[in-house]
Amino acid sequence: MRQSVQAFVSRRSLLRLASLCLLTLSGSASLAQIAPRSVTAIPPAQSFLGRNGMVVAQESRAARIGVTILDRGGNAVDAAVAVGFALAVTYPRAGNLGGGGFMLIHLASGRDAAIDYRETAPAAATASMFLDARGNPDQTKLRDSGLSVGVPGTVAGLALALAKYGSGRFTLADLLAPAIALAKDGFAVEDDLADSLPAEKGRLARWPSTKAIFFVGDDPLREGDRLIQNDLADTLRAVAERGPAAFYAGPIAERIAAAAREAGGIMTADDLANYRAIERAPLRGTYRGYDVISMPPPSSGGLCLIEMLNILEGYDLAKLGPSADAFHRIIEAMRRAYADRAFFLGDPDKVPVPVADLAAKEHAARLRAQIGAHATPSIAILPGRRQTGEGRNTTHFSVIDRDGNAVSNTYTLNFSYGLGLVAPGTGVLLNNELDDFTAKPGAANAYGLVGFDKNLPAPDKRPLSSMTPTIVLKNGTPFLITGSPGGSRIISAVLQVIVNVIDFRMPLGRAVTAPRLHQQWEPDAVYVEPGFAPALLDALRARGHVIVATEPHTAANSILVTPDGYLGVADRRTRGSLAAGY
Ligand code: GLY
Repeated sequence: MRQSVQAFVSRRSLLRLASLCLLTLSGSASLAQIAPRSVTAIPPAQSFLGRNGMVVAQESRAARIGVTILDRGGNAVDAAVAVGFALAVTYPRAGNLGGGGFMLIHLASGRDAAIDYRETAPAAATASMFLDARGNPDQTKLRDSGLSVGVPGTVAGLALALAKYGSGRFTLADLLAPAIALAKDGFAVEDDLADSLPAEKGRLARWPSTKAIFFVGDDPLREGDRLIQNDLADTLRAVAERGPAAFYAGPIAERIAAAAREAGGIMTADDLANYRAIERAPLRGTYRGYDVISMPPPSSGGLCLIEMLNILEGYDLAKLGPSADAFHRIIEAMRRAYADRAFFLGDPDKVPVPVADLAAKEHAARLRAQIGAHATPSIAILPGRRQTGEGRNTTHFSVIDRDGNAVSNTYTLNFSYGLGLVAPGTGVLLNNELDDFTAKPGAANAYGLVGFDKNLPAPDKRPLSSMTPTIVLKNGTPFLITGSPGGSRIISAVLQVIVNVIDFRMPLGRAVTAPRLHQQWEPDAVYVEPGFAPALLDALRARGHVIVATEPHTAANSILVTPDGYLGVADRRTRGSLAAGY
């Protein structure tokens, strides 16, 4: 396996020459695409100290439901399952039944588990399914048609987590009950829901079945309006009564498949019947004496995170503090880990992925040795196409119970509200997750993430993800539970929360709200949130970094275990995140 990484590294040098030509031809046009934009400031975080349990989620009703389950004797997995189903109702732009995600679990017994409920490509998928007649990536097929819909994994994933790791005190029906009530009785539109509905009006308005739920006439529901989702309540009730089979076979599955096909897709009811959530061995790394547990492929998140931490472990970041010297090294670590992501990662059940090699300290040491005083041009690491990309999508929640069982869960529809299409008669918003495949070697997805052969679409394959649910252990027990939405920026956000806490010794509130920066190899730019000192940015420019201002759009809802209790910090980069405990 090690040979395969090294062979690839020499392939990099061959490709470098060709890519330099590419750079010469495309450079000026590409830089024009990444011009600075106006940005809004990062709002203060909300925090809560709970002695017995804590849930931090992007929507307050769902967070409170999780705390109620903990208070009634549920463990962190019970609470997480209830939160996951509740967010499908209260946070429909990312909470979901029609998407997928990853749940990372650390049990107080010391056991860890990773539940992969990522969407799969339908059985009829082909490597060229997202190309146009000229053989180029077709953005409409990738993001705006039924072809982009992956077979949903959330219902299977949450049910598997409960069956294997729940306390046994709650049935699936018990944990679905609050979500069913919210869908049936409705609730007032507020916070991020009130912000995101008008922002996505155009994409949602294309589908009558979606308009019927989220609009009044031609306008999306507004702050204070009541959102009632009767079809979704019926779907949730069917799952409560008959388990996941009610979703994956019979009328609900048939309606989901039919909706995807009518929108130009290839999904069949058999694809749903054949869907399986998978339990995988979590990825483990170490950082300055802490154990870092995160999601293995088909997420790229855990591997990139561990690779970046391994590189940074060789620097005394605590001594450097949050300075230009430190951020230069952090940027260079990001650049190299995201480049490896592009070339080496894909669905491990379909392509070989050199996980152990990439996670090895020796690999990080080789990469660290390449980092000098100046920015390395991304083109000198690997070739790729320059594109911009960013996402307001996905949602993350962190949970811990009184016994120290912890859950870090990130799940998604890909774009906000996914494809925007509610499968008629189900209330289920469908994802457009298959854009996370690489349409053609060297092409970028909506987040500007370039990929190659390993992430091409194939039957039943899972597209590479950036979701990075993570639990950091100190002396074998949970220390920090974190994760974030934000497309490609998820991984760099999680990295910076960890570095802020462990290296820069920031209190968790500051660690979460501190401005973040992001580099993902291609495009060759460093995206900076508002709040960095101008002198620090000038110092980074002097080292050769192209600095681009960006809106904040990650939300690292995190929990720190302190001697006084569980400190939950809700990242208010989106309105309505809540840390709730008891
Ligand atoms: N769809 C975003 C991700 O999985 O990374």
